[in-house]
Amino acid sequence: MAGTGDRGTAPEEYDATPYLPSRGGLPAHREAAAECRGCPLHRDATGTVFGRGAPDARLMLVGEQPGDQEDREGLPFVGPAGRLLHRALAEAGIDEEDLYVTNAVKHFKFVRDEARGRRIHKTPSVRETLACRPWLMAELRLVSPELVVVLGATAGRALLGSSFRVGTDRGVPRPLPDAADGTRVLATVHPSAVLRARDRQEMYAGLVADLRTAADAL
Ligand code: URA
Repeated sequence: MAGTGDRGTAPEEYDATPYLPSRGGLPAHREAAAECRGCPLHRDATGTVFGRGAPDARLMLVGEQPGDQEDREGLPFVGPAGRLLHRALAEAGIDEEDLYVTNAVKHFKFVRDEARGRRIHKTPSVRETLACRPWLMAELRLVSPELVVVLGATAGRALLGSSFRVGTDRGVPRPLPDAADGTRVLATVHPSAVLRARDRQEMYAGLVADLRTAADAL
């Protein structure tokens, strides 16, 4: 990588592509992703949080990026948003045995709140999201799900483009652009948005309803 002796990220080189293995399945990709330096987010994160779940799942969920707890444990959706998501999935009748869960961005982006000794989530930039997209596309190719549920704006923009708006585009299965194998995509709210909402019950009910639509579409 030009100009970076330690395979760090030069400003012009936001792209995970050089780190992807040329062959192999999910385990090979997970291993390679642990060494990804395709954008600067690896510098402060504990490690890469790759997707997990059934390698031949019919349903794939895509979140934004790992949170504080996910970063520490190396697994997606194990923190508060994950607990809410797993409850909603159960209420929607979705069997987690038939599920693969991942994020649009594989490293935790945060700012430090020194006064409180906490790491505060920061939304990944478009550039960071696009840099990480090759990992997401590889997961899509390898798992080849029937349906992808995008959770919130970052995941929606990663797969549906910059004009994606969760408010107007949610709840309806549609063809996933550029998918060769008929994969469809359905958007819904991010579970963290439910946790933050004033009308939490209503928003949670909307998430469960969208997940039921996803289950029915399989
Ligand atoms: N939020 C996400 O988008 N993904 C996680 O894994 C956790 C929280």
